[in-house]
Amino acid sequence: MDFFNDKDGELYAEDVPLARIAAEHGTPCYVYSKATFERHFRAYTEALGRHPHLICYAVKANSNLAVLGLLARLGAGFDIVSVGELERVLKAGGDPAKVVFSGVAKQADEIRRALEVGIKCFNVESRSELERLNAVASEVGVVAPVSLRVNPDVDAGTHPYISTGLKDNKFGIPVDEALDVYALAAELPYLNVVGLDCHIGSQLTETAPFLDALERLLVLMERLRERGVEIEHLDLGGGLGVTYRDETPPHPFDYASQLLARLSRWKGGETLTLLFEPGRSIAANAGVLLTRVEFLKPGESKNFAIVDAAMNDLIRPALYQAWQAIVPVDTRTARKPAVYDVVGPVCETGDFLGQDRELAIAEGDLLAVRSAGAYGFVMASNYNSRPRPPELMVDGDVCHVVRQRESVEDLWAGEALLPDAGAAR
Ligand code: LLP
Repeated sequence: MDFFNDKDGELYAEDVPLARIAAEHGTPCYVYSKATFERHFRAYTEALGRHPHLICYAVKANSNLAVLGLLARLGAGFDIVSVGELERVLKAGGDPAKVVFSGVAKQADEIRRALEVGIKCFNVESRSELERLNAVASEVGVVAPVSLRVNPDVDAGTHPYISTGLKDNKFGIPVDEALDVYALAAELPYLNVVGLDCHIGSQLTETAPFLDALERLLVLMERLRERGVEIEHLDLGGGLGVTYRDETPPHPFDYASQLLARLSRWKGGETLTLLFEPGRSIAANAGVLLTRVEFLKPGESKNFAIVDAAMNDLIRPALYQAWQAIVPVDTRTARKPAVYDVVGPVCETGDFLGQDRELAIAEGDLLAVRSAGAYGFVMASNYNSRPRPPELMVDGDVCHVVRQRESVEDLWAGEALLPDAGAAR
């Protein structure tokens, strides 16, 4: 559930009409709802109840400082994949002791910084990475807390680009090799094995793949136990899906209760700390992309609604053929419905936000692309030299600018002209 609601024919973000936001801040712009972020985060903490747990929000989903600061104040930990994300978390007031570091290719300087600030755990994805981590930890003179990201080889049943738990994905250590890699980790003096981790994919709409993965991880934990290795925390990654259209993903409560029921039948399961790395299920439906219809262009086989947002602002439809709802912001004036492809100004045929949408709109109208709070702004680019849109966070009846619209000068910040030919010689 989110706090973008229709009130008498006008779409609001909490208590602020989106039309007012467009008038004050221009379009395109991302609009977030603070109450929705809070609600989605709390759904996890309430679902886990008194079971020892830590919700490490996946920073990649939406890394705006305001979002991170808000979640940090609610007690969130963070799942990061780069030193840039780590610095964002620190800047936003996040606690480094609640940070887990994922990713297949952590650089030595990223590892060093994470060791210096004292993160909770490194989710290690290969033998080579274990060795690099051990070497950097010995230079820094600290022992690195380690969890191995195991690839349980389960099919998450999601889009191939966001499915990560199959054997032929680049992620994780194959479950059959995990015992050997744990043995290597135990031998390396600057590593301390604390956890076991997996992340099988994103936008999962069933609990079965998660439970299959858990089953395989429990088998592995039994084997580790036989060898005297006791895991302190089990990190089940992120991946819980959201409703973009008609999907009915499990609520965090159902997900958690099924996991906890299984764990209660496993020796030590009741005290095993659970970590989760949700991104989309917290952020997606906490944001919309607000855009204005520039032109309606009727055609023989297709009608186009050309809007001022484009694939550079929101790439999910173009990249994954993702479907996101597109709705008029103001439905008070009667308009003739027609079927449109909603396209942007970028010079690519793939530049669409939605295809074959029935909309009752006129030029100048505002549209909201729903479910744009996750993997929206973070994946935006300056393609076609388009300044990236601002990000706004609504809190009740107040709208805060949490990132300004980029200026045209921002487009070439850091660039330089070549010295002229004469001066160069
Ligand atoms: N943990 C790890 C290690 C991950 O790789 C991811 C996402 C997450 C957690 C968070 O997963 P979530 O709860 O958000 O499903 N850009 C794509 C999604 C890429 C997901 C990458 N990894 C999209 O727009 O659909």
